[in-house]
Amino acid sequence: MGVSVAKIDDTIWSSFEIQPAPNPASDKEREAKLVDPGFGRIFTDHMAIVRYNQAKGWHDARVESRASFPLDPALAVLHYAQEIFEGLKAYTRDDGGVNLFRPDANARRFHNSAERMAMAPLPEPVFIEAVEQLVRIDCNWIPSGEGSLYLRPFMIASEIFLGVKPSSEYIFAVIASPVGSYFKGGPAPVSIWVSENYTRAAVGGTGAVKCGGNYAASLRAQAEAMDHGCDQVVFLDAVERRYVEELGGMNIFFVFDDGSLLTPPLGTILPGITRDSVIALAKASGTHVREELYTLDQWRADAASGKLKEAFACGTAAVISPIGKVCSANGDFLIGDGTGGPVATGLRKQLVDIQYGRAADPHDWIRKVL
Ligand code: PLP
Ligand code: COI
Repeated sequence: MGVSVAKIDDTIWSSFEIQPAPNPASDKEREAKLVDPGFGRIFTDHMAIVRYNQAKGWHDARVESRASFPLDPALAVLHYAQEIFEGLKAYTRDDGGVNLFRPDANARRFHNSAERMAMAPLPEPVFIEAVEQLVRIDCNWIPSGEGSLYLRPFMIASEIFLGVKPSSEYIFAVIASPVGSYFKGGPAPVSIWVSENYTRAAVGGTGAVKCGGNYAASLRAQAEAMDHGCDQVVFLDAVERRYVEELGGMNIFFVFDDGSLLTPPLGTILPGITRDSVIALAKASGTHVREELYTLDQWRADAASGKLKEAFACGTAAVISPIGKVCSANGDFLIGDGTGGPVATGLRKQLVDIQYGRAADPHDWIRKVL
């Protein structure tokens, strides 16, 4: 039986109805797909799904075959983009078990995103349970080696109505995609295009939450980056167009010659869970970390003088990726010799070792699912 919850109350939530897919991929099909999964192209056999309406609250929680949603042309999300999502990963440990990394932080951010977008907030334990149930049933889809299972929880406005108002119905779902590296070059340095024509977020806007609209609005700038031969776009602040904010899908860090780190402060940027983890890891090893404004001009000057040793992007999908080259309408510049550096490499190793259970977890970030 699915669980019906009459009101949003964490304490009365219990479990999901599990309906295993009648025709899952065969071992042979799955293994063939897992050889070179890329990012976000292949999907597992199941999805988790929970529905919301005003009468029942969150109800009808299931894990079932991954399938298309029926799309009424008047579905609210198709018109006014009331949609939020998350991204987190499951990792196989050497002992064959499975780790999730900080799912509670994703659940909290999802809750905050729902509030900002006037959507029904999903109880955080339900978010975590949906993710865990899906990982358990699809655990044979987690790639071995350095691959992982990328989990994509999301929520859409599902009322069939064209009035501009918060939807009275929502669908929350989690799908899973076995992934390798986000960038084609793996951990090799990436190149960044500075978007001077387009901005991502302004104070009072939605930059600090993970809503689909932020990404739709970033695509023109990302396309411009690719036209200039770059992997990713970096945005400047929307008021002065001087301060570095973040990349299209990652936060950014700078490493200086005194060993200190700098990352732009929270406000209009996404509060990345990787960003927060990098700050914690760096501070724990005695590194001075500043969350401060940093201008594009200063970035260029520090790269030229050698004061800036490294820059790197970080996020769930990208992990930690060194930035080799920065391109802009006013000229390009290299970071160091353009090949990355030891700080980004060291932080990446520390982070990944915790995620895969190869290192101690002093911050209590790992949740063992299996
Ligand atoms: N900034 C943006 C715009 C993102 O899309 C992401 C990815 O989720 C991040 C930063 C990094 O966030 P996290 O480390 O939580 O994945
Ligand atoms: C993530 O890292 O989880 C994101 O959502 C970013 C996106 C570029 C895939």
